[in-house]
Amino acid sequence: MKIGNLTLKSNALFAPVAGFSDVALRRLCYKYGAGLCYTEMVSAKGLMYKNKNTAFLLAAMPDEQPKAVQLFGNDPEVFFKVAKSEEIAPFDVIDINMGCPVPKIVSNGEGSALMENPPLIEEIVRAAKESGKAVSCKFRIGFNSPSVIECALSAEKGGADMITVHGRLRSDYYAGEANHLYCKQVKEAVNIPVVANGDIRTREDYLKVLEFTGADGVMIARGALGRPFVFSEILDIPFTVDIKSDILEQIAVAKKYYPEAVLVNIMKKHLCYWAKSARLPKKTNLVFTSLKSYGEMLEAVEKYF
Ligand SMILES: Cc1cc2nc3c(=O)[nH]c(=O)nc-3n(C[C@H](O)[C@H](O)[C@H](O)COP(=O)(O)O)c2cc1C
Repeated sequence: MKIGNLTLKSNALFAPVAGFSDVALRRLCYKYGAGLCYTEMVSAKGLMYKNKNTAFLLAAMPDEQPKAVQLFGNDPEVFFKVAKSEEIAPFDVIDINMGCPVPKIVSNGEGSALMENPPLIEEIVRAAKESGKAVSCKFRIGFNSPSVIECALSAEKGGADMITVHGRLRSDYYAGEANHLYCKQVKEAVNIPVVANGDIRTREDYLKVLEFTGADGVMIARGALGRPFVFSEILDIPFTVDIKSDILEQIAVAKKYYPEAVLVNIMKKHLCYWAKSARLPKKTNLVFTSLKSYGEMLEAVEKYF
């Protein structure tokens, strides 16, 4: 599968997931066969105004290949500047968030609110493309009603290199089952690669969704939390997994980029997903969510995994 001039190692992508798609989990997803892993969403405006907290979100290992960042915003001028900025320079791919349902984002006209304004989508994509980087857009089906076909055509007109369709409306948030019919229709409407997203967790889901939609690839979010090896499973790549050693690898990578307090906070959430994956009793989550220091965290990993 190609995105712009980049050829991806596989057609299974790791989604932007706020609070989870950090440098360390992305490394594990790549190790298990993901073709492209995005950062979580980062405010384009925050970057323009050099907001300190955004620096953590952009952490990427020098050998992470390819590097993909997701930005959110609604001002083409901001995208034009930020896409060419020093902070974004290391990234090969810029994804534009057009699916976030959160009221704080939507009320600013960002995230899924953009799906009500296809001409603005075209302008934003064109502005980001001025950077010369590959640009993708991550859509839902629509805001309150389906609009993704018109939106995808606008994105393509603006120069987008790939479209992802999460099969839910903004008004659905994460409820119900993802509907991949619109992804199929987008695939029929545009001439750029299309990726299906929503409720893909197994090889069976992967094959079924690809066949139904005709999409070029799939994107996985929740199915990769505590289970980065899902990429090997769905791609049918032989693998062995040692959860404890993956967790320790994740911590070692994260430690290079985050101060202790940030590291422990990030890992608390990851450890709850790892615990689910390792089928630990639910009450163990209490131990992980109460961790206060790096030392305590390592002890807990030793004890429970
Ligand atoms: C906790 C959480 C955080 C998310 N953060 C983002 C984000 O930063 N950017 C984005 O485009 N989508 C985000 N999403 C949506 C996912 O990328 C994905 O579209 C959605 O979860 C459906 O895929 P899944 O069924 O594989 O989880 C988030 C979803 C969850 C559950």
